[in-house]
Amino acid sequence: MTQRTLIIFGSPHKDGNTAALVDALKETLSGEVVEISAWYANISPCLDCRRCWETAQCALRDDMDLAYADDYDNIVLASPVHYGTLPGKVLSLASRLQTRRGKHLSRSGAKMSEKKAALILTAGGRNDSDTALHHARCVFKMMGARGFEERSVTSMRTDDISATADEAALARAREIGRLLSDI
Ligand SMILES: Cc1cc2nc3c(=O)[nH]c(=O)nc-3n(C[C@H](O)[C@H](O)[C@H](O)COP(=O)(O)O)c2cc1C
Repeated sequence: MTQRTLIIFGSPHKDGNTAALVDALKETLSGEVVEISAWYANISPCLDCRRCWETAQCALRDDMDLAYADDYDNIVLASPVHYGTLPGKVLSLASRLQTRRGKHLSRSGAKMSEKKAALILTAGGRNDSDTALHHARCVFKMMGARGFEERSVTSMRTDDISATADEAALARAREIGRLLSDI
């Protein structure tokens, strides 16, 4: 069976540091890949309308439907660190995962399939990524994706060394692509 991977891409730069690591991961990743750009997709933040409290469904219809599709084997979150956490656009997308809160799912009888998680993080060099990791963990939890700790790669000094020249990070990203491809 062909496996499917969703990549949530959190950089405004299509050819930046995060993209370099995503490209390396894709070199070894097999199956179908769906990408959502948190910056350029049409995704509204959660309006807290509370429709999902009973139905576990979102009232809004936009590009978030790609993330709501629950037929992925892998979820890759790839993002730069902005102000010590994920960029606002990524947090805005993440807010829409409120539909997947355990309480809402159990009330509606909905269940999520289990998926593998992988994380790509880049940062200029201030090494304050704890909050980014916390938010990444929230995203994966809400998507039913596990084990990002074993499939994560960081390039945290991009002010000095671009991720395109960070050979260790590029090699690790390729390794993660292979790990995600093991069924
Ligand atoms: C608004 C903004 C905030 C940032 N905040 C941080 C930060 O808190 N810590 C850090 O190490 N780098 C920070 N950076 C630097 C980016 O994380 C870094 O340049 C990253 O490699 C950019 O990745 P990209 O080329 O994929 O967009 C920030 C950059 C921007 C534009």
